[in-house]
Parts: sequence; C-alpha cells; structure tokens
Amino acid sequence: EVDDTPDIPSLVRALGGCRTPVCHTLLGDPPPTPKPIPELWTLLAHLLHPNTTAAEHGLVLAPDGSTVALAPLFAGIEVGLKRAAGWSGPIDQPYAALDALYAVTITEALGTSFLMARVNGTAALGPDGCWDDVDNPQNFTLLGPPSLVPDAVANGAMDGVLLGTRLAEEPIPLSVLFRRYYGVENGITSGWPHSSRRRRDFGALTAVGKLEEEVAAMLRVLRGLSPTRELLEEFGEEEEAGVAHRAAREFMEVYVECPAIIPRCMWGARPYRGTPKPLSPPLGSIYIHHTFVPSAPCRSFAACARDMRSMQLFHQDTRGWDDIGYSFVVGSDGYLYQGRGWHWVGAHTRGHNTKGYGVGYVGNFSTSLPDPEAIALVRDGLIPCAVRAGWLHQNYTLHGHRQMVNTSCPGDALFQEIQTWHGFKVGTGSCGIAGIGHLAHSDALEMEGWGKCGGCWG
Ligand SMILES: *[C@@H]1O[C@H](CO)[C@@H](O)[C@H](O)[C@H]1NC(C)=O
Ligand SMILES: *[C@@H]1O[C@H](CO)[C@@H](O)[C@H](O)[C@H]1NC(C)=O
Ligand SMILES: *[C@@H]1O[C@H](CO)[C@@H](O)[C@H](O)[C@H]1NC(C)=O
Ligand SMILES: *[C@@H]1O[C@H](CO)[C@@H](O)[C@H](O)[C@H]1NC(C)=O
Ligand SMILES: *[C@@H]1O[C@H](CO)[C@@H](O)[C@H](O)[C@H]1NC(C)=O
Ligand SMILES: *[C@@H]1O[C@H](CO)[C@@H](O)[C@H](O)[C@H]1NC(C)=O
Repeated sequence: EVDDTPDIPSLVRALGGCRTPVCHTLLGDPPPTPKPIPELWTLLAHLLHPNTTAAEHGLVLAPDGSTVALAPLFAGIEVGLKRAAGWSGPIDQPYAALDALYAVTITEALGTSFLMARVNGTAALGPDGCWDDVDNPQNFTLLGPPSLVPDAVANGAMDGVLLGTRLAEEPIPLSVLFRRYYGVENGITSGWPHSSRRRRDFGALTAVGKLEEEVAAMLRVLRGLSPTRELLEEFGEEEEAGVAHRAAREFMEVYVECPAIIPRCMWGARPYRGTPKPLSPPLGSIYIHHTFVPSAPCRSFAACARDMRSMQLFHQDTRGWDDIGYSFVVGSDGYLYQGRGWHWVGAHTRGHNTKGYGVGYVGNFSTSLPDPEAIALVRDGLIPCAVRAGWLHQNYTLHGHRQMVNTSCPGDALFQEIQTWHGFKVGTGSCGIAGIGHLAHSDALEMEGWGKCGGCWG
C-alpha cells in the first residue's frame, strides 16, 4: 500500500526549506510539489515563504514566547527521521566529515555568518525581534540590522538539533513530539515547556569543542562553494581555524551560557516617560529584589508578561515613575524579562540606582524560595554574562535590597539564599535621610515590590 500523503518534513522541503547549498547536498533534492495543495500546505507555504530580504518569513511564535525559525527546525527533524531509518550520512568528502544534524541546522549558517561578518564588519549573531501582537502574531520585526543567524534562527537550530536527536533515537509522530516540546500541558512537574530549556539542553548535548570541530569541517566544505569560496581564498589555515573557534565560542556564550531575555516589545511595555538617563557601565553592584506583589511566581510567558505590564502600570501611574523600576525581572517560566535593561538608570534601590542593576524575582519569597532553575538563571547565567559583556565590573558586589534600604525585600528566604552567591557583600548601604535629596525626581524613589513598602519612608 502506498501512502501518498506527504510527511511534514518533505512538505517543508518541497516548499523551499533547506535551499542552502550544503543543506541541499546533504539531504538531496526535495520531492516535487504535489497538486492540488491541501490547506496545510498553504499554511506551511505562507510560513516558509523563502524571502531573503524579509526577515519575518518562516518564523513562528512558540507558546513560551520564543520565536523559532522553521527551516533549521525541520531540517534537523528530517535528519533525525533519516537516521532513525538507518541513514548514516554523506559518504563523499568533504561532506563525509560533517555531522549532518549540525550541518543542516546551525553550522552552515554559523560558518557563513562569521565569514561575512568578518569581511563586512557586521554582527554575526542576532538580533532578537518582536511580533506585532503576541495573541495574534502576524508580522515579526527585527530589533536591529539582521545577521545570518538572528535569535529566531538560533532557536530553530537548537530545537532542530534537540528534536532531531530525539527522533533518531525513537521516531514518534511529529504532533506528539511538538506537543511535548512546545506545549505547556506536557505533564512535567515544574510546568516549564521543554522549549524554554533549549539553551540548557543544547549546551548539555553540545560541547563547545564539538561545535568548533563542526564549524571547521563546514568551512572546508564552504571553501568549495560560492560565495564563501571567494571570502575564504584570502584566509590561511590559521585564520580559518580562528573563525571556527570564534563562531563556536560566541554562539555558546550568547545562546547557551547567557539566559534569554524577553524584550520589552514582547511583554507589551508602554514607552518610557520622558528621557531615560544613561548608566555608565560597567557598574559595580547588583541588587536583588522580590516583587512581593505580585506574590505568586509567574509560570508562563502569558502570566509573566501580564505581571510586567501591571507592574509598569503601577510604577508609572501610581508611583509616578518614568517606567517599570527594575532593570530586569525574573520569571519562573525559564525567562528573564527586560525592564529598563543594561543601558538606563532604573528605580529600584534608592540612592543606588546609578551604581547598580536591580533584578527582581516575581513572587513573595519571605518564606519560600524561587525554583532552583530560576535561581540558577540569575546566579549562573545573567550575572557571569553581564561581567563578560562588560555591564558589571569583574569585582562587582551583590546585595539584597534590604541592605541598602529599610525594607524586608527580597524576603527572608531569598535573602538567605543570595548570601551564598558569588559577590555577596555583608554590610549595609546608607538607608535614610541622606536619600532625601533625590526626592526632587520622582523616579529616584525606589520600592519594595509595587504594592507595599516605600523603602525607608514606609
Ligand atoms: C520579499 O519581501 C520584500 C519585503 O517585504 C518584498 O518587497 C518582496 O516582494 C518579497 N519577495 C518575494 C519574492 O516575495
Ligand atoms: C556581506 O558581504 C557579502 C559578500 O562580500 C555580501 O554578499 C553580503 O550581502 C554582505 N552582507 C551584509 C549583511 O552586508
Ligand atoms: C504585516 O505587514 C504587511 C507588510 O508590511 C502589511 O501589509 C500587513 O498589513 C501587516 N499585517 C498586520 C496584521 O499588521
Ligand atoms: C508574603 O509571604 C508572607 C509569608 O508567607 C505572608 O505572611 C505575607 O502575607 C505575604 N504577602 C503577600 C503580599 O502575599
Ligand atoms: C573594581 O574594579 C574597577 C576596575 O576594574 C576598579 O576601578 C575598582 O576600584 C575595583 N573595586 C574594588 C572594590 O576593588
Ligand atoms: C524601618 O521600617 C519599619 C517598618 O516600616 C519601621 O518600623 C522602622 O522604624 C524603620 N526603621 C528605620 C531605621 O527607619
């Protein structure tokens, strides 16, 4: 019996996924496009519409709030399915040296992007972007000039590697795989969809040395192909190895070692009121807060985004501040949320807002702690990343809000916890009347949470 219903990966191929030279060589010619095109095909055709000038094509918004490029995702899935059916990859050199799963998902794009970036002096990774409406996403706009590996492609590539690996071990229907991976109702205890752990899981699966080897093998392939042949002609072996090293290192730093930060446009931030005041990084301090109200940790993108909006509303309309007070907010959904960000003075720790970043955990952590993963997100992710990126001094100090201001923030339990973190400094800041000089500007008032304490002024 012949089943002529095409499977999704071949559908994706027929519609223009995997058009790049290496991907095409590895996976072969796409099947012909059958007619008439069923409804599903029309949808996929729309999603995958190949258009190199418009970055918004071929992307979907996952329930966890991350944006995923479909082409690398489905290429990884196709390799996984082929492997499950006994395929062992290309046999001719230089292709035989490639791990097909990494080649079709990430290393062709990564190698090409770092070569282009080096020649053109442009960025090789990023940026992130935003959907026009997260409830009914239609248009996606990048937040800056595009590279060949914007964040959505990095997400799709990591997902392609993870899901391709999974399928190679045990082929299961894609609908089941997607529900388990992207769905929030997947029965896992903490409630995080697996997709919100893609950085951690990809890092666990892929050592930086492995990624470097794969990019190096890819550069040998790209030496034989246009337009990279022309770019690589001027490169010696050492330079080529340097590109592979840098590409692997930077990819892991940006997408694995650093946590994802949901940009303001994705949680529906209102604009800043007035003119933001710039910080002068690297700063010497980081201050840990809890929000107190909202008192329940947010456990989904939708819930965290709603909390961000309500805190901003309160800070702007009731407190009279220019914007949400925190520099960053920590959800219990696997993500950090951008408040004022790295560049602008916040309103979080009275008298110290220009000296450090304020990071607030959504929840009331007087007697309980955030999830271990939410703790690790800041302790092992955000802070070391901020040091590496030059936002924080190497010798930064970390304080709880209560050390600087008369407040119970960040809650007894969380305060106890952060005393074990690197950089924690015993001792107090100045709390009290000295701060009154800052009152002239309402934004200089900082808070505990948004519902309750006014710091030293009660
Ligand atoms: C690609 O997108 C650009 C900008 O949105 C548009 O002007 C152009 O017509 C598109 N090309 C194709 C082949 O659809
Ligand atoms: C970079 O340079 C290459 C070749 O020199 C060119 O094809 C490509 O469009 C450039 N990319 C950007 C983003 O400037
Ligand atoms: C999306 O962008 C296109 C082209 O820029 C525009 O024609 C269309 O109206 C936009 N759709 C929505 C829902 O904003
Ligand atoms: C915060 O937690 C403490 C301890 O469980 C509780 O007494 C307090 O009422 C809570 N506050 C809010 C605003 O939820
Ligand atoms: C921390 O390092 C900076 C420069 O890196 C230096 O100016 C500052 O004095 C140092 N602070 C402490 C407390 O060592
Ligand atoms: C700190 O705040 C508490 C409760 O608001 C108040 O009772 C206490 O007097 C304050 N302490 C100082 C030193 O201001």
